[in-house]
Amino acid sequence: MEINKPAMLPQPARAAAERFLIAMNDNVEYSGPVGAAWAPGRVNLIGEHTDYNDGFVLPIAVDRVAAFAGRARADQVVRLWSAHFQAYAQFTLEGLPGSFERQRATLPGWARYVLGVATELRREGIALSGFDAVVGGDVPLGGGMSSSAALEVATAYAFALFSSGGFTIGQQGAMLQPMQVAALCQRAEHIASGLRSGILDQAASCLGRPQHAVLIDCRSLDYRYLRFDAPELALVVIDTGVRRELASSAYNERRRQCEEATQLLREAIMQHEPENATVQSIRALRDISPQQFARYGSALPEVLRKRAGYVIAEDERVLQVVKLLEEGDFEAIGNLLWQGHAGLRDEYEVSCAELDTLVEIARSVPGVLGARMLGGGFGGCTINLVHTSAVEPLRQAVNEQYPARTGLQASIDICRAAGGPGFAFLT
Ligand code: GLA
Repeated sequence: MEINKPAMLPQPARAAAERFLIAMNDNVEYSGPVGAAWAPGRVNLIGEHTDYNDGFVLPIAVDRVAAFAGRARADQVVRLWSAHFQAYAQFTLEGLPGSFERQRATLPGWARYVLGVATELRREGIALSGFDAVVGGDVPLGGGMSSSAALEVATAYAFALFSSGGFTIGQQGAMLQPMQVAALCQRAEHIASGLRSGILDQAASCLGRPQHAVLIDCRSLDYRYLRFDAPELALVVIDTGVRRELASSAYNERRRQCEEATQLLREAIMQHEPENATVQSIRALRDISPQQFARYGSALPEVLRKRAGYVIAEDERVLQVVKLLEEGDFEAIGNLLWQGHAGLRDEYEVSCAELDTLVEIARSVPGVLGARMLGGGFGGCTINLVHTSAVEPLRQAVNEQYPARTGLQASIDICRAAGGPGFAFLT
């Protein structure tokens, strides 16, 4: 098990450790030293809503983390203090996975993700110890930078750190490989929140590497790192300040529509090309080529045609961006970002007026190479690829125009490609 040097602790992990001694100073019997575990949030350069279509994504883990700091307990209780919500939550590992539903019902939303990960680890037959911990972090909550995935992945690392006898996470020889952790945390997201999310967020968090983006094939789960460190460019994330409850039901609806579109396209291709043996293997929109879509897309009702058209084009954009990254052509990458946003707005219909406004403002600022909404949609953030000299003009334009046009304040953040999860004992 790799132990990170405490000197490398991200600031939120340090803050959680300081808080732990204040928030949890009662007479619990602890069985080990104070330790911290953390995992990053992510942005996604391109490849939105492609993950659950078995397609490609190109995320970057960022220098914002969810963090735990605490101590292992001698029993099976997990007791948490959320620095963000200023609230305690507690559950027991006893009876998991069977006791999940009953315990979930009594927990606040944020603690359900932790319970979800514990449940999925137990389902894998992994022995766990209880712990007390402060949960903190600086990933904006619900803002499109995957705060829940960061929390889930940090939870897996917290259990790896605190469980006596421990289980290992890492590369060769470890009990769990990073992608297995990602898949397990994805399942935890499903049971904790009911969102039938793809693997993008959890994989991006698990695979973070400084100065790199990572191309993930969401079917095979193969991945490849690509350098992303242009000193003259900044990744600017702008938060609309909007969170919408309908996001998760609309997300699941999009997923169903993609499944239905796949089925109908498969039938249309089969009917017209009965001799084409590859049709049998069409399982997701990933398997429909742009040429096939051009030929058979008209077999779909309009809404499904728009949804499928977006996904198929977005997969192509991911592969184009990969090529352009290798060539260092950021202008052309920016163009694909604008195009991606237009598709999300007009065809996939997961944007909203506030996101569109931020993208329009960004478009009017010279030196902004591209911008688009980020993540699931219906609120949250935009990602902007910006010449460093244009960061201030962009900030000014947003501060001047966004409140006037929406009645809201936007917050602006510059993110860097950062490393993946980690843990350390501190005492
Ligand atoms: C959310 C989901 C991801 C992904 C994105 C859209 O962040 O959790 O799995 O589908 O939306 O790309």
